[in-house]
Amino acid sequence: MASPGWPTALVEGDVGLRPFRLRDAQAWSESRIRNEEWLAPWEGRQPSLPPATWAERHSPGAFAAMLRSMRREARAGRSLPFAVLHRGSLVGQITVSGVVRGAFQSASVGYWVDRAVAGRGVIPTALAMVVDHCFTTVGLHRIEANIRPENGPSLRVVRKLGFREEGLHPRFLFIDGAWCDHLCFALTTEDVPEGLLNRARHTG
Ligand SMILES: CC(C)(COP(=O)(O)OP(=O)(O)OC[C@H]1O[C@@H](n2cnc3c(N)ncnc32)[C@H](O)[C@@H]1OP(=O)(O)O)[C@@H](O)C(=O)NCCC(=O)NCCS
Repeated sequence: MASPGWPTALVEGDVGLRPFRLRDAQAWSESRIRNEEWLAPWEGRQPSLPPATWAERHSPGAFAAMLRSMRREARAGRSLPFAVLHRGSLVGQITVSGVVRGAFQSASVGYWVDRAVAGRGVIPTALAMVVDHCFTTVGLHRIEANIRPENGPSLRVVRKLGFREEGLHPRFLFIDGAWCDHLCFALTTEDVPEGLLNRARHTG
């Protein structure tokens, strides 16, 4: 059974979002392996998982396993895992995860983009589309993004879009062998009655 707002495709200018497909395996794997230095400092990994090299964790076979897990989570309504396209090419991911319903109607968002297209506003556009989609069709009330204080580019993304800084989560995520502090940023529907993309267009 489909969940509210999933599957779907979203587009704004050169930036497109859609569910991953099995034929993305090669492009995803190539981009992830080429961008190890760019991505590794910011990405968490379950501490109990057996050790594996970056290349092993990002092989086309690893993509197939990730795709199965993404589809399962999305079908259950717990996640919206989008491929990010720039001018039709796969360049990154943006994932809404930890969707909690009931009195919360809340979720977290995470993202990355290939260094080759960094600095062109791809993720701010993708994030604005995703937030608007979550606040309308999906029916969520709050979206948060958690970012390491050392991650200047990601802090710029949420600050440009007007996310509210809500505080520090000490030892929040396990990254590269250590529990790392993160700053929490969030928006609720009340913050963007006009829509985030619409607001970004008028202020950016
Ligand atoms: C954070 C990230 C997703 C931003 O995506 P993006 O599409 O490049 O976003 P923007 O184009 O708005 O650029 C954001 C900032 O990055 C910096 N930046 C721009 N080009 C850059 C480059 N080639 N290399 C490093 N930083 C760059 C600038 O400070 C820019 O801010 P500005 O617009 O005020 O100049 C991207 O840098 C990335 O994937 N980083 C690695 C993974 C990561 O940190 N994920 C988020 C974890 S919370």
